[in-house]
Amino acid sequence: MKHAVVTGGAGFLGSHLVDDLLESGYRVTVLDNYGSGRPENLSHLEDENLDLREHDVRDPFPEFDGVDTVYHMASRASPRDFESHAVEIALTNSQGTKNALECARRYDAKTVIASTSEVYGNPEEHPQKESYNGNVNIRGPRAPYDESKRFSEALSIAYDQSYDMDIRTVRIFNTYGPRMRHDDGRVIPNFLSQALSGDDITVYGDGSQTRSFCYVTDLIGGIRKLAEAPASDVSGEVVNVGNTHEITIERLAEIVLDAVDTDSEITYLPLPKDDPEVRCPDISKARRLLGWEPEVPLEEGLDRTIEQFHVANRA
Ligand SMILES: NC(=O)c1ccc[n+]([C@@H]2O[C@H](COP(=O)([O-])OP(=O)(O)OC[C@H]3O[C@@H](n4cnc5c(N)ncnc54)[C@H](O)[C@@H]3O)[C@@H](O)[C@H]2O)c1
Repeated sequence: MKHAVVTGGAGFLGSHLVDDLLESGYRVTVLDNYGSGRPENLSHLEDENLDLREHDVRDPFPEFDGVDTVYHMASRASPRDFESHAVEIALTNSQGTKNALECARRYDAKTVIASTSEVYGNPEEHPQKESYNGNVNIRGPRAPYDESKRFSEALSIAYDQSYDMDIRTVRIFNTYGPRMRHDDGRVIPNFLSQALSGDDITVYGDGSQTRSFCYVTDLIGGIRKLAEAPASDVSGEVVNVGNTHEITIERLAEIVLDAVDTDSEITYLPLPKDDPEVRCPDISKARRLLGWEPEVPLEEGLDRTIEQFHVANRA
């Protein structure tokens, strides 16, 4: 039976990835410090093939009896944490990436690195292709996240050059779905929590900034295709995975107000520093290399997410 190690596997994306790996017949070890993730995200899985361990990836990994794939998903990802947990984030994506790569090297395993569209910063090229080098403020409040993700990619290149490893990098664009924390601070859980509790929805700036939102099962499908593709096609590659349906944040607020039965209205607050004005992936590389594209429309994905937020509110 193949063995996957998933860092950050108790988080939003990591827990969906673990579901998918177990369904595909993998044995899975999760390493998570439960900083922004929760063991409850995996408590529905009473699966003998799941080994859930509390471990901070800034520390060297435990020994295993063999590893086929390391998925490095650990890192707080909410803008709310970028300043309050700046050092932890910066080291998770540097020291933590080193430890993930060392683990893969020791067992001659494949590595999948979770990078982010934030490596493009406030982009001057739109939509963003993998070849675009980005426009990141290296000293701004988002730098501990954005720059450490860029370093995580650079360290992966260094390990590949020095040790000839099979490393695949996914640049994840905004993804949403069940198991996001209600107080996560990212825009969709913010809007849903506010609308469901009858509070006004807070839009930062005038709401004309754009994002494109990928439903979680689509994203996980893309990551798994990248991980399972032949090394000759994807080893050493970086691939954008996200949804190309771009909307303004104000339009997103209107869609949430339509989807939730609520008296909430929209209020406006000043835009945080370095908030990107536009964000939309060019996914032609994922289409070509992986035969992947997203399938779940925003309204449908939001309905599924709202359903889970209702259940969680009742629990
Ligand atoms: N969700 C998105 O839209 C999105 C977009 C771009 C990139 N990403 C990336 O995907 C990955 C997962 O993000 P998510 O949305 O699931 O966030 P999340 O906060 O739900 O999950 C992150 C997980 O990593 C764990 N973690 C953080 N630091 C750790 C450390 N030092 N040691 C061990 N565990 C640690 C957390 O406890 C949590 O379980 C992250 O690397 C993130 O940067 C996510």
